[in-house]
Amino acid sequence: MENSKLYSGRVNSQWARLMDIMGMDVNYSSCKGMELVTEDGNTYKDFLSGYCVQNLGHNNKYIADALIDEIKSQGPVILQNLIPRYAGELAEKIVTLAGRNISNVCFTNTGSEGVEIAIKFTRLHTKRAGILYSEGAFHGISYGAMSLMKNTSWTKRFGPFLEDTMGVPFLDVEKIEKELKTKKYAAFITELIQSEAGLNIAKEEKLKEVQSLCKKYGTLFIADEVQSGIFRTGKFLATHYFDIEPDMIILAKALGGGMMPVGAVLMKEEINRSVFKSIDQAFVSASTFGENSLSMRAALSTLEYCEKENISERCLELGESLREGVNALVPKYEMLKEVRGIGLMNGIVFQEPHSLKLKALFKSFKLLHEGLFGQMMVRKLFREGKILTQVCGNNYMVIKACPPLISIDADIKYFVNALDQALESFHSGDGFKEGIAIGRKVLNL
Ligand SMILES: Cc1ncc(COP(=O)(O)O)c(C=O)c1O
Repeated sequence: MENSKLYSGRVNSQWARLMDIMGMDVNYSSCKGMELVTEDGNTYKDFLSGYCVQNLGHNNKYIADALIDEIKSQGPVILQNLIPRYAGELAEKIVTLAGRNISNVCFTNTGSEGVEIAIKFTRLHTKRAGILYSEGAFHGISYGAMSLMKNTSWTKRFGPFLEDTMGVPFLDVEKIEKELKTKKYAAFITELIQSEAGLNIAKEEKLKEVQSLCKKYGTLFIADEVQSGIFRTGKFLATHYFDIEPDMIILAKALGGGMMPVGAVLMKEEINRSVFKSIDQAFVSASTFGENSLSMRAALSTLEYCEKENISERCLELGESLREGVNALVPKYEMLKEVRGIGLMNGIVFQEPHSLKLKALFKSFKLLHEGLFGQMMVRKLFREGKILTQVCGNNYMVIKACPPLISIDADIKYFVNALDQALESFHSGDGFKEGIAIGRKVLNL
């Protein structure tokens, strides 16, 4: 395949290899809504949504039309030294939707950039250097973000990182207080639903306790909602499920309607005022592509579309239906532990089998590679179930069930049926035998 060869030779040979092993080296000819059609005539349903980017479905016409309209208008797309078209209107819309104590927005191009902004701004505002973070988190691949991630699979070989950062178990109030007491932390950053850690959902009481400790010790509270934001959980922000007021909220991914890279760091007024303090500080935080009119238009039309189509209600109903469907499979399969999530941000959680026959097969999988079971499940779902999904980056025993929010109940049923068949194959032993053969080939055994 020409494209794969070029990519492998000139971009990333190991990625091309992985796609080949996973059986995912296919050429997509058209992607519409949640359906991905390949040149060889197969149709896959997307239950990954580009890691919660495609909330409105692939190539959403409403967003595409807005972008075409913007291009046809021949207005300024990227032009520095102006008050950018749409950025104020978009910020106003985001602030209104966010509510709570949020009053200002700083636009970025990616989630990692949002994390960098959050580090910079909170350090400046508090005049402290430290950043406390939740273990298991994924915050991105820039240096600041990598300094806030405990899992070494992302960071090993790239150090040294920022000093004064510290990981604590997810919302472990005692350990957090011990650190905050030192008063060296500018901010505590956490996801409210830890996505790559395996869809760990925060408990409201713990969040409230941590927030009040942050207030007590002068540390700002940052919610990373890069995956959970933009109605993924059924509400504009996952924050809205909890009685908390983060000082900062980071958004990206779905904000650009799956077509433009757009991020936004939401913050309370005092932080914004500390940064943009005087006229000589007016351009202290800016980016060449940030606030470009195509990105702003994509984000504005994304938010319009969510309201117009009542995305919120639909997402909540479909989420319920998905969890109900998967839960019904739990008594049938010893390796299916549970499904957890809110709205359409869900994780299917697997566990080690206890029956002797499966235990031995599972162990031999684990010996080959820790992540082999999850990856082979993903492969089976893709090749046979025609479902695109992925394992969580920091927890290989959980796979994502995060379809676009425009999916319909028949898509959810299709997923549950594909999962049922994939589980059946592993519980019969066939899925394991197949996986061991693939694993051996990959590892040249
Ligand atoms: C929770 C979270 N934060 C930050 C990021 C980084 O975002 P980006 O890949 O746009 O830099 C990600 C990316 O997956 C993420 O899931």
